[in-house]
Amino acid sequence: MEKKLPELQLALDYVSLPSAIAMAALVKDYVDIIEVGTPLVKAAGMAAVSAIKEVCPNNRVLADVKTPDVGALEAQMSFDAGADIMTVIQGAPLETVKDALETAKKNNKEMLIELTGVRDLSVMAPKWRELGVEWLVYHREWDAQAHGLDWGEEHFKEIRELIDMGFKLTITGGLTPELIPLFKGISAGRVIAGRAIHASEDPIAAAKAIRKAIEETWS
Ligand code: 5RP
Repeated sequence: MEKKLPELQLALDYVSLPSAIAMAALVKDYVDIIEVGTPLVKAAGMAAVSAIKEVCPNNRVLADVKTPDVGALEAQMSFDAGADIMTVIQGAPLETVKDALETAKKNNKEMLIELTGVRDLSVMAPKWRELGVEWLVYHREWDAQAHGLDWGEEHFKEIRELIDMGFKLTITGGLTPELIPLFKGISAGRVIAGRAIHASEDPIAAAKAIRKAIEETWS
């Protein structure tokens, strides 16, 4: 049976909506999912989600709202604006996770838990599983990266444990074509690349290079 390769998600961490729209229009045919990044949602609101979906009707759009509370409302706002996927932050109460997940299911959409800032997964991960959460976003955070955090064995071990528990994993955090091979042997479901694509001089070539690294790592 042919192996399913991880999907490629472009993260648009912009504060200018017109710049984000221009980038989405340029790269949409080379990626599977387009993420309206958290800064963009904060700068332009749900209008950013609607605008990106309008420009990219054939891509799934993810609203990276990283919801901390009021899960049903923020999930519904994201889906009403045109998102196919939304995120809840790992520190949100289980009630928020439950409500956002139910709202996602009702709308035939997806809710992901964003692991940014998580320190002890062994407590929360079984509870999320029990609630029926399917997807987690495993994140090497921007600030932690800027302060020197590299991908390492402790991350890969944790990712493997989460996959063994039955979660599907999106991996992200400063990923480049050079770093992607580090994940060989780990059955990731999705890979996010933001700056490696949109900050490149040639974003289409950069998206192709990420896709090639995915193919080489997971074929
Ligand atoms: C930051 C994010 C980013 O969208 C994510 O890290 C992907 O961007 P990059 O590939 O540039 O690191 O959620 O909190």
